[in-house]
Amino acid sequence: MRKKIVAGNWKMNTVIAEGVELAKEVVKESASVPADVKLILGAPFVHLTSVAAVVGGTSVALSAQNCADEVKGAYTGEVSAKMLASVPVEYVILGHSERREYYGETNEKLVKKINLALAEKISPIYCVGEKLEEREAGKHFEVVAAQIKEVLFTLTAEQMKNVVIAYEPVWAIGTGKTATSEQAQEIHAFIRATLAEQFGELAQEISILYGGSCKPSNAKELFAQKDIDGGLIGGASLVASDFVAIAKSF
Ligand code: PGA
Repeated sequence: MRKKIVAGNWKMNTVIAEGVELAKEVVKESASVPADVKLILGAPFVHLTSVAAVVGGTSVALSAQNCADEVKGAYTGEVSAKMLASVPVEYVILGHSERREYYGETNEKLVKKINLALAEKISPIYCVGEKLEEREAGKHFEVVAAQIKEVLFTLTAEQMKNVVIAYEPVWAIGTGKTATSEQAQEIHAFIRATLAEQFGELAQEISILYGGSCKPSNAKELFAQKDIDGGLIGGASLVASDFVAIAKSF
């Protein structure tokens, strides 16, 4: 059985007090979410300690949105995986398209980040997805396959067990334009088949989340697809009732 996951990606939104309030509301409403659905809150770095105090001892897990690609030392402004583990943080979103696009994150850097996170027992939520022009040129399978192969194929099966994948078509992020459930299922199945080339049966155990304008009104149809195991939620994760409604859509 694959883990069902609904993870919020708050991105660069909320100040600490607002983030704490949001986390409190999610914890309060999480009682109504089926016990087999894992809720994760992806908070900004400076919020993590405060939000950890809210979710500690509850079923809601905490995620960071990035980590450094070096262990420690003279890297001004960076936050290491070890620092995140000391919060503690259980997950880290890595390779989000915004980080690939605006901060020059390459597959090579992401391999380092994933290894450092796993070494600290933090599960990466590894993001893949094609841009609009790539989809229009029919290159989406090729693009996603490269993001999977160049990064995840470098891992051992033991490491891979602790990785979550999020497929997020860049053209659907924050645009209100969602992939149809057929488009999403098609590429999720492709991702699982690609994983199977390297990891065999283990591919059946890896949770693959959909992200990109996922909201209460479309989550049910998306989550009903065979290879969609949950969602990575941006905008709708900033409203506790919407986030929880999405988690109740399975
Ligand atoms: P969105 O963002 O739900 O606001 O489209 C998803 C994401 O970027 O993770």
